[in-house]
Amino acid sequence: MTNVLVTGGAGYIGSHTVLALLNAGYGVVVVDNLCNASKESLVRVEKLAGKPVTFYQADILDKQAMACVFVRENIDAVIHFAGLKAVGESVQKPLAYYKNNVQGTVALAEVMLEHGVNSLVFSSSATVYGEANEPPYVETQPLGNPASPYGQTKAMVEKILMDVARANPEFKVANLRYFNPIGADVSGDIGEDPNGIPNNLMPFVAQVAVGKRDKLAVFGDDYPTKDGTCQRDYIHVTDLADGHLDALAWLLKQPSGCAEAFNLGTGEPLSVLEIVKGFEQYSGQPVPYEIAPRREGDLAAFWADASKAKQVLGWTTNKSLQDMMVDTWRWQSQNPDGY
Ligand code: NAD
Ligand code: WQD
Repeated sequence: MTNVLVTGGAGYIGSHTVLALLNAGYGVVVVDNLCNASKESLVRVEKLAGKPVTFYQADILDKQAMACVFVRENIDAVIHFAGLKAVGESVQKPLAYYKNNVQGTVALAEVMLEHGVNSLVFSSSATVYGEANEPPYVETQPLGNPASPYGQTKAMVEKILMDVARANPEFKVANLRYFNPIGADVSGDIGEDPNGIPNNLMPFVAQVAVGKRDKLAVFGDDYPTKDGTCQRDYIHVTDLADGHLDALAWLLKQPSGCAEAFNLGTGEPLSVLEIVKGFEQYSGQPVPYEIAPRREGDLAAFWADASKAKQVLGWTTNKSLQDMMVDTWRWQSQNPDGY
């Protein structure tokens, strides 16, 4: 059996990917410090898959603890989700973000090399394109200058991992640039469970619909887009999880070291108001909103050119807007207070 270490595997995207890995027959070891997750997500994943997950509550910065995991478990590859992800918080606490995301990845890569584990799938982000690039974003565009420390950590880690691959002929890395992940597993048993007031659009919409928040603030309706609200490339988390399995399978069959970036998006931009209307239509719940000032740092519109992932990995998205909305609502309505 191929054993995969999943860092941050108790989190939103991690838990969906662990489920997909188990369903595909991989053995899964999760390391998570639970700073932004609950172990309940993995209990539910185990139930859904009917298979166990080996769990270590540990910090990726703790090299000793990580070395123990590599010694005890027979790890073949790593999928690395662990990190901090709140853009606004990263402006307030840059050092926490550089330490956790950059230093944490350096520590992880060191432990991997020390234990002869050479395949790594990394959670990058569309934010690495920065504002200098024109959408649709394509991997041949240069890394931009991301506006937030969070975005900078993703660009830095991509560069670091490319350098590690250059220096170590066996090392294989896929930097997966996610666009805007939303939705939940079709069971409604696992999903996104933000702490406090959600920063992101979809969990905020879902919390308004379930009655936890009064109304959504739509940040700006005077952008140069078709309805004036920002456009993004929303991707169902299950499609995103499948992208990790395709990237992993591709890495494992490469005869020697490699370093590639892949966009994971649908290629279809949707506006904030299209998301609100879509959610109302497919959930049957009203989502009261008001137009508010623009949010600092928001770009008017970006979406993926996802053709490289299709050509090289054989990955495409299968889920529709309806799936994204129905699955988000199923998770939120069945778990109004999260895990
Ligand atoms: P999440 O917060 O739900 O998951 C991250 C997990 O990592 C959490 O379970 C957290 O407890 C754990 N973690 C954080 N720091 C750790 C550390 N030092 N040691 C061990 N565990 C640690 O976030 P998510 O949405 O699932 O995102 C997963 C990854 O994907 C992150 O790296 C994020 O930056 C990246 N990403 C997310 C999005 C998005 O919109 N959700 C978009 C692009 C990229
Ligand atoms: C989407 C749209 C908002 C909340 C962020 C990160 C990015 C990636 C995904 C990690 C925007 C609007 C939002 C609200 C609103 N994460 N909005 N009212 O900003 O595209 O991307 O998450 O890598 O790096 O930057 O996602 O969900 O915050 O916003 O009107 O209450 O919804 O202005 O246009 P974003 P988002």
